[in-house]
Amino acid sequence: MQNRRNFLSSALVGAAAFSLGVSGAEAQDKKKKKRSSGKAAGPIVISTWDFGRAANRAAWDVLKAGGRALDAVEAGVKIPEADPNNHTVGYSGFPDRDGRVTLDACIMDEKGNCGSVAALEHIMHPISVARQVMEKTPHVMLVGDGALQFALAQGFEKTNLLTPESEKAWKEWLKKAEYKPVINIENKSYDTKGATAFNPLMLPGNVYNHDTIGMVALDANGNLSGACTTSGMAFKMHGRVGDSPIIGAGLYVDNEVGAATSTGLGEEVIRVVGSFLVVELMRQGYSPEDACKEAVTRIVKKNPERAKGIQIGFLALNKKGEHGAYCLQKGFNYAVCTGDTEDKNTLIDGKTYFK
Ligand code: GLY
Repeated sequence: MQNRRNFLSSALVGAAAFSLGVSGAEAQDKKKKKRSSGKAAGPIVISTWDFGRAANRAAWDVLKAGGRALDAVEAGVKIPEADPNNHTVGYSGFPDRDGRVTLDACIMDEKGNCGSVAALEHIMHPISVARQVMEKTPHVMLVGDGALQFALAQGFEKTNLLTPESEKAWKEWLKKAEYKPVINIENKSYDTKGATAFNPLMLPGNVYNHDTIGMVALDANGNLSGACTTSGMAFKMHGRVGDSPIIGAGLYVDNEVGAATSTGLGEEVIRVVGSFLVVELMRQGYSPEDACKEAVTRIVKKNPERAKGIQIGFLALNKKGEHGAYCLQKGFNYAVCTGDTEDKNTLIDGKTYFK
């Protein structure tokens, strides 16, 4: 459904076309072309959580040199993928309940090309494998052993992703083996009371929070791309795949409109095809924040009780370089980078559904 502003502008284009003797369809087409080739407000890169700032810096180095948004997002998310202190993305991600680190990632460019890997083991940079799936195969998604075989054939090296720290956390979890994984833990510290009482992620002296990195960028040529990568839910069932590698759920890019990505409990995001929904709402004229809010609200409407105990966050960037986010619970933030200096790579708290 069109919103009032779009409806009026379409009506005006139609009226102008009529008076100039041009068909409405042609006029709409011209309008579309103008919109997709107009000067964009980039470069800009945004990403989920506070670890997004370090990722943004790597993406920014590509963008400021006039590089492609696609190259920027790949370079950006590789930072948390390789970070041994990040237990929710890539290397040192918490394993599944069988002790295996399985990674999910996807990438999408301005032309609608996309690639994805799910339940990929032993590879440090699943995002780069996803890109190779996109560029070197006729497929969109490779999973499990097939994804690993493909990665090895492309020259990726096999790495042990289970670090001693992650293994220790898994062994702690095994003592109770309570299948109630906590995802997207947004608090900076934990105790044994309240909503975070079950906390398999806590090890003495460490703070574990956050999950997926989702990143979207607009380059100097006005093109959008996005990337999303995670080790998924800690201590999940072997074979469980979340939203992050699923195009439309964890990530979606439409170069005429905008791009969106998500973090949090992937099952709920998949149910509403969340990132696609956010982009389609922006197409209808919603601002990035309002589009994210509507997607979050839809998740709540489907199951209000379930929504109270989980976290979901959406992040969106439109073609004009406007960005916004919305999440279920307090604690979600996102990093926005438009320049080299610290003050141009800032962290913004996402607005929340539950106050
Ligand atoms: N959003 C990450 C996951 O559910 O695996």
